[in-house]
Amino acid sequence: MSLLKEPDLGTPARTGGASVDVEIDGHPVRVPEGTSVMRAAALAGIEIPKLCATDSLEPFGSCRLCLVEVVGGRGTPASCTTPVAPGMRVRTQTPELDKLRKGVMELYISDHPLDCLTCSANGDCELQDMAGVVGLREVRYGFDGENHFDAPKDTSNPYFDFDASKCIACSRCVRACGEVQGTFALTIEGRGFASKVAAGASERFLDSECVSCGACVQACPTATLQERSVVELGMPTRTVLTTCAYCGVGCSFKAELRGDELVRMVPYKDGGANEGHSCVKGRFAFGYASHPDRVLAPRLRESITDEWREVSWEEAISFTARRLREIQAEHGQGAIGAITSSRCTNEEVYVVQKMVRAAFGNNNVDTCARVCHSPTGYGLSQAFGTSAGTQDFASVAEADVVLLIGANPTAAHPVFASRLKQQLRQGTQLIVVDPRRIELVRSPHIQARHHLQLAPGTNVAVVNAMAYVVVTEGLVNDEFVAQRCEGFDEWAEFIARPENSPEAVQEITGVPAAELREAARLYATAGNAAIYYGLGVTEHSQGSTMVMGMANLAMVTGNIGRPGVGVNPLRGQNNVQGSCDMGSFPHELPGYRHVANDDVRSVYEHLWGVPLLNEPGLRIPNMFDSALDGSFRALFVQGEDIAQSDPNTTHVHAALRALDLLVVQDLFVNETAKFAHVLLPGTSFLEKDGTFTNAERRINRVRPVRPARTGKQEWQIICEIAQAMGYPMHYESAAQIMDEIALTTPTFAGVSFEMLDRVGSVQWPCNAAAPDGTPVMHVNGFVRGKGRFVRTDYVPTQERSTRRFPLILTTGRILSQYNVGAQTRRTGNIAWHPRDVLEIHPHDAELRGIHDGDTVTLASRVGQTTMQAQLSDRMPVGVCYTTFHHPESGANVVTTEHSDWATNCPEYKVTAVQVTPANATAAAEAAPAVAVPIAGE
Ligand code: SF4
Ligand code: SF4
Ligand code: SF4
Ligand code: FES
Repeated sequence: MSLLKEPDLGTPARTGGASVDVEIDGHPVRVPEGTSVMRAAALAGIEIPKLCATDSLEPFGSCRLCLVEVVGGRGTPASCTTPVAPGMRVRTQTPELDKLRKGVMELYISDHPLDCLTCSANGDCELQDMAGVVGLREVRYGFDGENHFDAPKDTSNPYFDFDASKCIACSRCVRACGEVQGTFALTIEGRGFASKVAAGASERFLDSECVSCGACVQACPTATLQERSVVELGMPTRTVLTTCAYCGVGCSFKAELRGDELVRMVPYKDGGANEGHSCVKGRFAFGYASHPDRVLAPRLRESITDEWREVSWEEAISFTARRLREIQAEHGQGAIGAITSSRCTNEEVYVVQKMVRAAFGNNNVDTCARVCHSPTGYGLSQAFGTSAGTQDFASVAEADVVLLIGANPTAAHPVFASRLKQQLRQGTQLIVVDPRRIELVRSPHIQARHHLQLAPGTNVAVVNAMAYVVVTEGLVNDEFVAQRCEGFDEWAEFIARPENSPEAVQEITGVPAAELREAARLYATAGNAAIYYGLGVTEHSQGSTMVMGMANLAMVTGNIGRPGVGVNPLRGQNNVQGSCDMGSFPHELPGYRHVANDDVRSVYEHLWGVPLLNEPGLRIPNMFDSALDGSFRALFVQGEDIAQSDPNTTHVHAALRALDLLVVQDLFVNETAKFAHVLLPGTSFLEKDGTFTNAERRINRVRPVRPARTGKQEWQIICEIAQAMGYPMHYESAAQIMDEIALTTPTFAGVSFEMLDRVGSVQWPCNAAAPDGTPVMHVNGFVRGKGRFVRTDYVPTQERSTRRFPLILTTGRILSQYNVGAQTRRTGNIAWHPRDVLEIHPHDAELRGIHDGDTVTLASRVGQTTMQAQLSDRMPVGVCYTTFHHPESGANVVTTEHSDWATNCPEYKVTAVQVTPANATAAAEAAPAVAVPIAGE
């Protein structure tokens, strides 16, 4: 499509309240109470000139360009700050108003460089537009007076420039940073003519609190804040609507191109998940797609010690198919399998699981959700009957209290964090349950009511104690429980036992009993209480238990089935929900239906023309173990760097090395590819055609911005491998794959590309019963009928701190990087996180003679690595923290084999470690992240 310019109605929409009838320039218009005159006029098709107003921000009333006359009223009020009143009659165009507006513009222009023709914003500048709208023909004040023409330019940010000479001090950037993003990095310093935008004390964006979300750039009406890509490449000329490929928020973007060149990604106001906001990754970090490291042609080698050989697609595909069949002939049908990727589209994932089930003839398919949200799948399914979050993101606007457990949204789900911060600033109460003092505990204008700073690994004890308070203090929602749930009496008897009381668990959890009681009371009595959680819940040996514990808490207080409540996993990767939905687990066909279900299997057997196994296949950890015992010999890995992301790296590497055939489909030669025999180049999200499903079950379209640089879509490659193995599998397009998904999966029955292109996005279930999708689940009943209370005994993890490994390591992400960093490390985001660091409490550091910035050795009983120490009191004493974005530090060298009892999700969040100063600092700085196995205690 040509360049999509979204309308700007000047001020935000108002909802609720009575309707008000007004007349603007003789045109009647009816709008909700509280709507501004400016917006009402825009809705009537009348654009009032404006500069300081934009519909993503509350009106400010500083520029005085939007003046209007109200019949019978006094003066010329600003239309952006004047709300409509019943019967109001407004004039927007009169000679007097024209004169006033011209005067305003003359003042602005007299202090603005007149380099429009060579300005990077030429054609996309509201100041330029308004000069035309008001008919400015002369500037009576001249240009010789005091001005800001020589104001300095700040080019410190990797992605955008701040050219102060062009600033009109409208404050839109300052307000965007506060109101939309919630960071409050910018201020207007000085008054009157001396007013200027400042990014903190240093005045440089890069050194300020700025998180580079781009909201200020988007809000700026001039070229003052401008993407550097626009400066370098010129104004874009056309738009492709697509979806971010980073986190599970699933932000919609306008990919803006000039010819075939991608100039910038602009968040889409109509995007259901993000409503026009973004974070630094989706907004700016797309350069990896054209990075020279991209693998663009298939590669082969007989042995992993050989050099890679570039080959044709035909050779790569026939080699892969032949070796897979040979290995099956020699070692059995179950000797091969595949891992699907949560970064690929639903359609790409669907064909991989189909290849495994129909062409491989087994159920040996698993997904990287195994190592993140598989306990969510299990736990929510047990309690509610389906494996998905209960709410849409917008629902948080109606929450009175938010219980945030084991999640750090400002780093991992930034756009949801901004939405949450907006609510917190408006009075929603926050309870944080986390060993770390995450940013949301205290940040500008936000203070969590409670921070339950528990010891890692004690989530279940905390949630049980909260439920204990509810049950023993008479806070149960009896009506909800009686009508909607089952198993309450037995569960209540268990949960009310003295061992679950806050006082009893205080010793284990480290959370003061009185504070836990207060938090539980707040959650149970505040009105609408919503739970949001992340990997700090799931990546534990009791991950599934904790998910069920949260479900119990929501049910016992009746906080399910309406806006503002619910149990909501904040999904890590862009399509982790989708990859699970698509049947990536070894025990489930698409739509979470067990392979043992004859009726479901027969649907696929009929369509696919082959018998399907009714026994679950191997999970990822079983694949590794079986590779080491010799029974599993070949693995296809779709877009997943298991050699870096999975725990106990030494074990993973040994398993990969033991395989006869490893096929990796990826953008880069990642750590896993080092063990591969076949490397099939993948497509970046800018080349894909398909859908991603975000954390709120929203199915979003991903549209190709450019053709596949490899010459093939990933789903085509899979089909060709299956064909070469002798199983006929062919689709004309990704749309046809979605049609098959809809045909066979009841929750997707109403979904098609045509439908998504028409409505934008939809949340599953989408079928005859819910043709417009399902923003909130379990409204009148649970998917499984009655919500089920499940007993959740607290079982301490076997991973304990010891004399040799006295600290507990927990891991997570930071904002600028994404998972193993394969993408973000190849972008300007590296400016913010060039290496992983170990956060260690000053007390623990002092005991060990460690100073801030020292290189330290981090060791557990399975391995050790080196990294730089960063002193931080965000963790309690005895707990340290790191990220795993860089292969050089290889944090997963130290994580262990412990995993969730139900799903084998690794216990990344609890590892007993020791931290010591590295012996030879210089050597350690250059030290590789090799696993150095250490004998167990
Ligand atoms: S980029 Fe985002 S965080 Fe940075 S100053 Fe602009 S609005 Fe604030
Ligand atoms: S930088 Fe842009 S948005 Fe900010 S005050 Fe200046 S002109 Fe307005
Ligand atoms: S919040 Fe997530 S989906 Fe949105 S732009 Fe950032 S990384 Fe992309
Ligand atoms: S747009 Fe209303 S005062 Fe600036």
